[in-house]
Amino acid sequence: MASQQCDKQREEIFRLFDEKPGSGLGFLGFPEPSLPPPPPCLEVLPSEVSPNIRNNNTVETVDVGGLTLLKGRASTQEVFSLANSDLVPGKYEGGLKLWEGSLDLITSLKSELQHGKLSFDGKRVLELGCGHGLPGIFACLKGAVAVHFQDFNVEVLRCLTIPNVLANVQRKPVEGGQINTNTRFFAGDWNEVHSVITSGSKTENDDRNPESNQIDGYDIILMAETVYSMSALPNLYNLIMKCLRNPKGAVYMAAKKYYFGVGGGSRRFLSLVEKDGILAYSLVAEVADGSSNVREVWKLHFK
Ligand SMILES: C[S@@+](CC[C@H](N)C(=O)[O-])C[C@H]1O[C@@H](n2cnc3c(N)ncnc32)[C@H](O)[C@@H]1O
Repeated sequence: MASQQCDKQREEIFRLFDEKPGSGLGFLGFPEPSLPPPPPCLEVLPSEVSPNIRNNNTVETVDVGGLTLLKGRASTQEVFSLANSDLVPGKYEGGLKLWEGSLDLITSLKSELQHGKLSFDGKRVLELGCGHGLPGIFACLKGAVAVHFQDFNVEVLRCLTIPNVLANVQRKPVEGGQINTNTRFFAGDWNEVHSVITSGSKTENDDRNPESNQIDGYDIILMAETVYSMSALPNLYNLIMKCLRNPKGAVYMAAKKYYFGVGGGSRRFLSLVEKDGILAYSLVAEVADGSSNVREVWKLHFK
């Protein structure tokens, strides 16, 4: 059933990202769409979970290489009154759907853990463009001390991310007790969401010293399928540079090598990283399943 769902999602993804240039999404000389003003940036509390979701317990399972995670389901029709749609630039950015990159990312994180190349123990983690938030949830399950989730749309956090975190993490006993990761949820555009994220990301020391204005960074930033839009790449990169703990922080990014029709992709993003010259990057995994749209997972860290 999970594999049928994945096949269906794969078809949907290709419908969106195999569109030819000229689809009006602003690539190679085609005019950028004029976007509506971005939604306000705000922190969403777990208690603000959508009442519709609270009363509707539709939970599905997702198998990621033997690890079973739970996810809810919400349609663009019920949440945004939009006909079934992958994304509507500037209004809804795709967070209600589970994209295959987030599963690639978890698979890579599992492998990094198994090979001793990564540990979440005691780490502060930020998942950007989280949607369902499964990679961030994975970090909670693997010992992160704090996991903060960001999505463009407040509705996605209320209808999916928060319920998913509750279903997978907060009700799950683990060896040695309950998981008590600090989880927080931030909505807003990458261009400005930094203001709310950083006010929510001060060190635990700040509780002891309310005078302190010090902003602490994240040890690990996770993101899947976030680099599709050319115009959003600089804002995303700037946000990462503001949030990543220097010098030991690392970013794990899952993305398609190239998003047909919209112009972004892992390589576009990395060329921006390269130009700035501050982060180094290495390929963690490549998923080439015979289609032309190769998927990749990259690790970025300070040089
Ligand atoms: C294609 S969805 C991927 C969702 C999820 N990571 C996954 O792989 O299933 C892209 C995500 O990036 C976020 N996003 C896209 N553009 C954004 C922007 N300009 N500002 C903030 N978030 C944005 C959206 O919230 C959305 O959840």
